[in-house]
Amino acid sequence: MNWKKIALAILSTALVGGITAWLLALFSFRRKNPEPHWDWSSIDLDDLDFPDDMLWGVANAAHQVEGGCDNNNWSRWEAEPGRIADGHVSGDACQFYTRFAEDIALARAAGARAFRFSVEWSKLQPEPDTWDEEVLAHYRDQVAAMHAAGMVPMLTLHHFTQPRWFDDKGGWEARRNIQYFVSFAQRLFSELGAEVPLWCTINEPEVFTTQGWFVGMFPPGKKDALLVARVLANLLEAHSRVYHSLKLMPGGDQVQIGLVKNIFQFDPLRRHSLPDWIACHYLDQVFNESILQALQTGHFEVSIPGLVAYERAIPKLAAAGDFIGLNYYSHFHVKTQLSATMPFDMVQRPSDLATDMPYAVYAEGFHRALLRIDQLDLPVYVTENGIADARDDRRELFIRRYLYALSKAWQDGVDVRGYFYWTLVDNFEWSEGWHMCFGLYHLDRDTQERTLRPGSMAFVDIATRHEAYEE
Ligand code: BGC
Repeated sequence: MNWKKIALAILSTALVGGITAWLLALFSFRRKNPEPHWDWSSIDLDDLDFPDDMLWGVANAAHQVEGGCDNNNWSRWEAEPGRIADGHVSGDACQFYTRFAEDIALARAAGARAFRFSVEWSKLQPEPDTWDEEVLAHYRDQVAAMHAAGMVPMLTLHHFTQPRWFDDKGGWEARRNIQYFVSFAQRLFSELGAEVPLWCTINEPEVFTTQGWFVGMFPPGKKDALLVARVLANLLEAHSRVYHSLKLMPGGDQVQIGLVKNIFQFDPLRRHSLPDWIACHYLDQVFNESILQALQTGHFEVSIPGLVAYERAIPKLAAAGDFIGLNYYSHFHVKTQLSATMPFDMVQRPSDLATDMPYAVYAEGFHRALLRIDQLDLPVYVTENGIADARDDRRELFIRRYLYALSKAWQDGVDVRGYFYWTLVDNFEWSEGWHMCFGLYHLDRDTQERTLRPGSMAFVDIATRHEAYEE
C-alpha cells in the first residue's frame, strides 16, 4: 500500500471539505444578512405616511437631565477618576427637576405631543425603608404639567440608574434583589397608576449590561461574559415580574406596559471575511437575538463557544408586554483581528457619514430594526432616535432620512404607534459627559438657556404636519 498516496488523498479531501464548508458558511451569512444601502438621490424624502393617531414625542432620562442625582450608581461612578470624558459630572445637569414646566412648553413648541421621561429611583426611595413623599409629589406635578400641556406622558422606571443601597446589596447580579425593583414599581404605580398611560419597565437591558459588565464603560465597570448573561436574565425577569404585578393592580388594565429594546446591527466590515461574520453572529446573539428570542419564547439563552454558556427559563416573559419600545441609532461594522485581548473592533467606513458619537447615519438600519422587532407581534413605539451633532450640520438630514425609513416600515406593515426624538435639550451623555449634543435645543451650560437648533426644524415640521389633532 502506498501510504504517501493515502495520506495525500485524506489531506486533499479534508482541504476541499474545509474550503467548501468555509464557502458555504460565508454564502449563507451573506444571503441571510444583506446590508442594504438605499440610493438616497432617487428618494423623495417628503413622501411620508404615518398612522393617523401616531404619537410624536421627545425623550429624556432622569440622571441625564434632572440634576442632584447624587445617591445612585452613576454619581458614585462619576466620582471615580478617569471614568467620564474630561472628568465631567452630571451635577445640576439641565435642572430639569426645577425647570420641567419650561421644558414641557419647549417640547410642545417643537411639535411634541408626548413626553418620555424616567423617574429617579434613588430620589423616591433613598433608603430601602424610606419613601420620599416630596419627590413623589414632584413627579405627580410633572405628569400633571404634561397633561395640562396636552401631552401624553410615558414613564420609564429604570433608565441605567439605581440607588446606591441596591448596588450595595449586590445590585442586578443578584437574582434575589429583583424583589426590590418590583416593590418600588408597585409603590410608584399605586401612586401614579393610570395617570400615566404608557409605562416602560427597563431601558435597554442589553446596553446597560454590555456597557457595565463587558465593555466596562458603565458602572460597575466589569468585564465578565457570564455576568453579562446573568444580569441580562435578571433584568428580563424583573421586567416580567413588574409587568405582571402592575397589570394586577387597580388601573393596571388601563395602561400599556413594555420593555425598551435597543437594536444596533453588527455588520461585517469585510463581507468576504468569515471571521468577521462569526464575530457579528455572536455579538448579535448576545446583544439582540437572545433578548428577542426570550421575549417570544420565555427562554433566555446565550452560548459562545469557549466563553459563556448560560440559559434560564423566565416565567411568563413571553406574555409580558403590551408594546415594545425600540431605541435605534445606527449599526456597527465589526472587524476581527489577531489579538488575544481585543479579537474584534468596531470600525467606521471612510464612506460613512459619521455623527459625533462613533456611529454612521444609517436610516436603512432603522428600517431593518423595525422589521425585525415587528416579529414580536407587538405595537411598536420608537422610544428613542436621534443624533449627536454639535455643529448641527447633519441633524436635518438625519431626521428626514430616519423618518422616511419609519414611514416605509409603517407602509410595510410594522405596527408603529409613536416616535420619540432623543432628546429635547442637550444633556449628560453618560461616559461621554457633556460632549454629545443630541438636543433639539442647544443648552448653554452657564446660563441654562435653551435654543432651538435650525436642524431640528425637520422634526418640528414633520411632527406638526402629521399630528393627529390640532388645537
Ligand atoms: C440611551 C440614552 C443615551 C442615548 C444616546 C441610549 O442608548 O438610552 O440614555 O443618551 O442612547 O447615546
